[in-house]
Amino acid sequence: MIGDRKVLFSGMQATGNLTLGNYLGALKNWVNIADEYLTFFSVVDLHSITVRQDPAQLRKQARALLTLYIAAGLDPEKNCIYYQSHVSGHAELAWILNCFTYMGELNRMTQFKDKAAKHADNINAGLFTYPVLMAADILLYQADVVPVGKDQLQHLEITRDIAQRFNAIYGDVFTVPVPYVGKAGAKIMSLQDPAKKMSKSDENPNASIYLMDDPDTILRKFKRAVTDSEGQILYREEQPGIKNLIDIYCACAEKTPQETEKEFEGRGYGEFKAAVGEAVVSVLRPLQEEFARLSGEKAYLDGIIKQNGEKAEYYALKTLRKVQRKVGFPERIR
Ligand code: TYM
Repeated sequence: MIGDRKVLFSGMQATGNLTLGNYLGALKNWVNIADEYLTFFSVVDLHSITVRQDPAQLRKQARALLTLYIAAGLDPEKNCIYYQSHVSGHAELAWILNCFTYMGELNRMTQFKDKAAKHADNINAGLFTYPVLMAADILLYQADVVPVGKDQLQHLEITRDIAQRFNAIYGDVFTVPVPYVGKAGAKIMSLQDPAKKMSKSDENPNASIYLMDDPDTILRKFKRAVTDSEGQILYREEQPGIKNLIDIYCACAEKTPQETEKEFEGRGYGEFKAAVGEAVVSVLRPLQEEFARLSGEKAYLDGIIKQNGEKAEYYALKTLRKVQRKVGFPERIR
């Protein structure tokens, strides 16, 4: 809480090509619930360098992501959309919280295990303490609610543990946040292997729908999506490929799985896949058009970046100063 307002915080990494999973699992929900809160939407570029990045590319992708937040429908006059690296409080609070987080807790994080396996030549300390930086992001703004996809729930759990541990020692310093997971689209799976999450780092380009894919590419990828030989459009665990397509359809067309089963009863997979593709195209087309338009508005975007960076810093410093005082750092002399 800040004053009498509930706070929402969320963020996305500025790396790789964003996928339909990022949009349906996170961004779309942000837009749906933002009005109810004082909001902070961060482009988390500090997190991005836990994996080696090309500097020019990182800068470009960070700006594209910030633009995409706005293109998706977040009004930057009402929502604080900013770069994590412009607010030094994130890294400062992360250091303090590192001293209240146990190695054993971090060792259990599945994302760390996955990423360490993928980047065996660069298992750096930042990759290990990544969840602590994420906790700092959230706690710095006293967030009540954090909309994320299912894959981030473990990180929300550790954030809550760290906040509660800190509060138990120093009194009520942090709001303990709760995750918000949308009804549909919380875990979009790969189109080529429905046992795996759809991911921007997948080597097979047919496995993921990228937010900037053109309509033909989208329709073709759905046409090739892996299904099964059951021949029925039913929402059940035994048909993970079809279940995933139903999830995508529901999230895009605002339907329930039951409505979808009924709509496609007795119809073939080919027809269903085409309908899912069309539903995705109709969601992504306006997003892409607005993104292209906004990308040309350099001065406008620069203004947003400056203004919102300062706004985020203002709120971040409030919490940071309080935390510094609580742990016993000397007062500043003015
Ligand atoms: P990131 O950048 O991997 O993903 C951004 C958001 O997209 C969601 N998501 C998915 N949802 C459904 N299906 C999928 N296949 C899928 N793939 C990704 C993620 O759950 C996430 O909500 N650590 C975070 C970024 C972060 C953050 C934060 C998030 C840093 N600090 C503070 C919330 C609050 C991450 O790497 O997300």
